[in-house]
Amino acid sequence: MAVHSLFHSQPQFSGFMKPCRFEGQVSSLEVRGRIPPAINGVFYRVMPDPAQVPFIENDPWFNGDGNVSAFHVHDSRVDFRQRYVRTEKFVKERQAGKALLGKYRNKYTDAVEFTVRSTANTNIFPFAGKLLACKEDSPAYRVNPRTLATEGLETFNGELPSCTFTAHPKICPDTGEMLCMGYEAKGDGTPDVCYFNVSPEGKVKEVVWLVAPVVALIHDFAFTENYVLFPLIPQTCDLERLKKGGEHWQWDPTIPFYVGVLPRKGAKGTDVKWFRAPNAFPGHTVNAFENEKGDIVFDLPSTDRNVFFWWPDKDGNAPEPSSIHAQLLRFTIDPKTKNLDLPPAEVLSKSDIEFPRIDDRFQGKSHSLAYFDLLDPSLGTDFARIMRPDVVGGGHPVYNALGKYNYKTNKMEAYCAGQTHLMQEPVLVPRSKDCEEGDGWLVALVNNYETMGSELHIVDTKDMSKAVAIVYLPVRLRAGLHGNWVDGWELDMLE
Ligand SMILES: [Fe+2]
Repeated sequence: MAVHSLFHSQPQFSGFMKPCRFEGQVSSLEVRGRIPPAINGVFYRVMPDPAQVPFIENDPWFNGDGNVSAFHVHDSRVDFRQRYVRTEKFVKERQAGKALLGKYRNKYTDAVEFTVRSTANTNIFPFAGKLLACKEDSPAYRVNPRTLATEGLETFNGELPSCTFTAHPKICPDTGEMLCMGYEAKGDGTPDVCYFNVSPEGKVKEVVWLVAPVVALIHDFAFTENYVLFPLIPQTCDLERLKKGGEHWQWDPTIPFYVGVLPRKGAKGTDVKWFRAPNAFPGHTVNAFENEKGDIVFDLPSTDRNVFFWWPDKDGNAPEPSSIHAQLLRFTIDPKTKNLDLPPAEVLSKSDIEFPRIDDRFQGKSHSLAYFDLLDPSLGTDFARIMRPDVVGGGHPVYNALGKYNYKTNKMEAYCAGQTHLMQEPVLVPRSKDCEEGDGWLVALVNNYETMGSELHIVDTKDMSKAVAIVYLPVRLRAGLHGNWVDGWELDMLE
């Protein structure tokens, strides 16, 4: 008889966060409104979705198995498919009929030995005709974009230089190369960072090894024409703590927010400069570019509070979750200066935002629009209904709108899906290959807490006041992390 057969009643496993555990396909989902016929492609996203009941106490919400959703939008219809990534963890645990992987990123707590501990649950990223199911502690798994079948670890023909691979690789719109990095790149607790890039054909090109000033979380990064930027979140790792069965991460409020700046072409690891700013939790990067003076402009959401409040500081201190508020900051960095203390960042918007997206054609270049998940208490959301602890919680991010920030007017427009709705990360679907910046539709999964159902909302970026179409799912999908849009013409190339 199974010892662990019920998910815990903790908030991260209850209400909307109860594991979904569905695999399968449903054609012609219900639609209210009309999906613009010009939308033709696939929205891929991945959610942490424990396939087995964890044996770890209070397992964090994003330690579950990566379950990939694909929404194929065509002819004003949506066909849906969902399938778990067959990671080593998933396969071994399914065979055993129970969880075997221990604590988040602590192999010393596992029930059996794993070669790769990836949950493949953080991003599903299209590259070179395949999808990369990413978890930053491991190499990515390669997934078939049509069937969602797992094809194996992506080692780039055995040339993957790092034992870890970021969940946020970038595509340079000029060269088509994929910019990649791994941190703790020589194993748990190592300060080594590996930057590398991969040609559009999948060949590893440049590899640069750096040493970070602290062993800290580098969840996302950014690039410009001539530089690569590595923002360090002050969640720090200590190997001895891991060996004692402790947590991978511990918040350190005493260290700066470091930004590593590495020349992008022909650099050595010792060329990196680690700039410093006051302690903060930088979120995902919006973008970076070089201005006319040659300075690096770096935009990102950031907060002075520990967003991962379930991993407190060494004394157990953590912020009250509702007090965490990330603003849109702009750092301007002179890459040639010897003064490594950054000038104060400019606050571009005080709105509480995260999960930024820009028009990907402007990656590394000056951009004038950005889209976000947004928390705006003035939008009439019935938080008393939504925020019941049995319905939402456990670190699941709470955003009640999509935000559109216009850099020219400094205005943040909001799309609010309804009084009982929270948003997941949006993707931008360009109106055409050569449309103006940011023009098209936002597509985002929405949690409806009245029906406890999942919906896909499609919003024209030119009119954020309403959705042009709402697609209803017959299954509730748990909070996800990241996703990407693959346009039809790219999909054809993948066949
Ligand atoms: Fe992320």
